[in-house]
Amino acid sequence: MTQDELKQLVAREALKHVVEDAVVGVGSGSTVNCFIDALASIKGRIDGAVAASEASAERLRKHGIRVFELNAVSELQVYVDGADEITEHMHMIKGGGGALTREKIIAAVARKFVCIADASKLVPVLGRFPLPIEVIPMARSHVGRALLAMGAQPVLREGYKTDNGNLILDCRGLSIMDPPALEAELNNIAGVVTNGIFARRPADLLLLGAPEGVRSMTARR
Ligand code: A5P
Repeated sequence: MTQDELKQLVAREALKHVVEDAVVGVGSGSTVNCFIDALASIKGRIDGAVAASEASAERLRKHGIRVFELNAVSELQVYVDGADEITEHMHMIKGGGGALTREKIIAAVARKFVCIADASKLVPVLGRFPLPIEVIPMARSHVGRALLAMGAQPVLREGYKTDNGNLILDCRGLSIMDPPALEAELNNIAGVVTNGIFARRPADLLLLGAPEGVRSMTARR
């Protein structure tokens, strides 16, 4: 099976977790694009969606799925999103596509976070994937210096602006042995909007696509 086929497999599996007659939270990225395409097949059974990126919102609308503002929705039962890396503790690195802040906000609202990923995303320890950090433009140098002092090597994502009009610094070299602690520490640097560690609000369920089928995993205690 190709990686794309694995993404389609987990995307279809995620449909089983979508609550009927409700609004579903939709993340962003290539795996989520497969989920949006699958969601179109049951669009008559949901009220609509909230989207973590303009790109996802546009794809949802193209399928005729109504897109709500998050502020217009009082509760969200389920949020479906991908990850760049995920551990068996359901801690993730996200933001490869730059949508980390809106993703984190929707994840915070949702009762259940279903992560969909192909098997290459499951890692023993986070950190091989460069950690994306969304930064207010005027704080770029300040945040860069603070990250260097922490032992990281931040690199500005060239020519890129987030949907919120901010910049992304991609960081290698951070030791992510305690993901919730580092997530909080990075968010405390003035000028950081958010960082791509999703550990304080981890996924509740991982649907992992492998050639032998979809593996459902919850956090190992
Ligand atoms: C987008 O900002 C990310 O958080 C994505 O969820 C993540 O990059 C996974 O994307 P793919 O499904 O394209 O690998």
